[in-house]
Amino acid sequence: MDEVLTISQARPPQPCTLVILGASGDLATRKLLPALYNLEVYGRGLLPPKTAVLGFARTEMTPEGFRQRAREAVQRHAPGGLREELWNRFAERLDYLSGLERADGFERLKQRLQAIETARGLPPNRIFYLSVPPDAVQDAVVRLDGAGLIAPPRGEHFSRVVVEKPIGNDLASAMEVNRTLRKHLAESQIFRIDHYLGKEVVQNLFVLRFANGIFEDIWNNRRIAHVQITVAESEGLGSRAAYYDPVGALRDMVQNHLLQLLSLVAMEPPVSLDPTAVRHAKANALRALRPAEGSRVREQVVRARYRSGVVDGQRVAGYLEEPGVRPERRAETFVALKVFVDNWRWSGVPFYLRTGKRLARRASAVFVVFKEVPEILFNRGAWLRPNVFAIRIQPDEGFSLDVLAKEPGLDLAVRPVRMNLRYASEFGQASPDAYEHLLLEVMSGDHTLFLGASFVRTSWEFVQTILDQWQRDPSIPLGSYEAGSWGPPEADRLLAADGRAWFEP
Ligand code: BG6
Repeated sequence: MDEVLTISQARPPQPCTLVILGASGDLATRKLLPALYNLEVYGRGLLPPKTAVLGFARTEMTPEGFRQRAREAVQRHAPGGLREELWNRFAERLDYLSGLERADGFERLKQRLQAIETARGLPPNRIFYLSVPPDAVQDAVVRLDGAGLIAPPRGEHFSRVVVEKPIGNDLASAMEVNRTLRKHLAESQIFRIDHYLGKEVVQNLFVLRFANGIFEDIWNNRRIAHVQITVAESEGLGSRAAYYDPVGALRDMVQNHLLQLLSLVAMEPPVSLDPTAVRHAKANALRALRPAEGSRVREQVVRARYRSGVVDGQRVAGYLEEPGVRPERRAETFVALKVFVDNWRWSGVPFYLRTGKRLARRASAVFVVFKEVPEILFNRGAWLRPNVFAIRIQPDEGFSLDVLAKEPGLDLAVRPVRMNLRYASEFGQASPDAYEHLLLEVMSGDHTLFLGASFVRTSWEFVQTILDQWQRDPSIPLGSYEAGSWGPPEADRLLAADGRAWFEP
């Protein structure tokens, strides 16, 4: 089969200046600069001509120092490494300005932007990527606007602001951030990132469900017994205690990435491919989530943090030994939840979610587990494995369906076999990193892969009830698990109580 049908063509990205506020931080180093570099090289050549990247942060550094830093970031974090002969082509786009915290910082930013645009012959199209701590987002937006850096939304040139997750650190602050954004920007100028939406397989979930005729009739509580979503990381805290320790896994991963995945599995078909319609359908799925309130939190939510252990053959420290961790904050590095989407389609189908750091390996997947056949023919007296449709998000991207088949031979013996599609063999190339895709989408002005305000609100509402209950009832256990394992025993018990077990992604 070689027929490719292009449903909608990506809009071309526009030449612009991308300002990374917080350019000396972790996200810029690990993700943004390597993604921009990859867009430039590796045959993609996708960065629009003349486009410039201006790092803007507190750290004192010369533009040359920033280029050097970017070079190291690319060497360490770009999947294909650094290609010496192409480095200069990328490096000439980079510039740097310090003084983000200074009173006149944004005035100086404005002057530098004008200088860059004049020198490169660029139109004043500007993207401000707020790679700053959540509590600095509002201040940055106010100051951008105050310096006259936000152009009117329908003008000839664009100003766009990219806001990273987490948006706020609880429901109230998320709402406040949204209010500030909307006070200074039109919705069309705001791009709220959840980088899971930039992952190829996550986008494919939508296509699988709605471009194929076979799924819709079985995608409901009549055929599906339960759904599991696992997002496992083998990495630990690294140097991120300042951000992570006050936050924990529920806020860091569940409020955004896991609920995104859940909404894509659970959503109703949107009325069109229009970004607003898609966002609406996703937020509606979340609205149907049964709140995990009161005693349900103790029963349906497991939290824990890692002890020391062995990951990838290396002995690693426990969470409490990591630099910068304060035990009294009681941050969890693992959460498992059992949730229900209380609507017509999903009534009675549990969704089990789990995520954690320092687990056995980095692997994320969705498992859709179908109901068993009646206990009449093959299922009589012996338990047969159910059909499982697995969507592997990373690292081995693909999907598979487990079915039962007769083993060749005279006996009537059945065993599970796997129909497996691997992206690497089917599409013959590595998928681009999520940030590559998302950065291009901001440059082209397409909102489909970005969060709407209502998703942010609804996801926080769900998470906030759990946070409140943890706060109210400190006797709810904070368990522990050995680094390199699949999490605490309580998470296994959560499923065992329903006669189930986690699938290993
Ligand atoms: C980020 C979280 O949003 O996602 C990190 O803040 C986490 O704690 C990361 O490590 C995981 O992303 P990925 O793409 O590596 O699965």
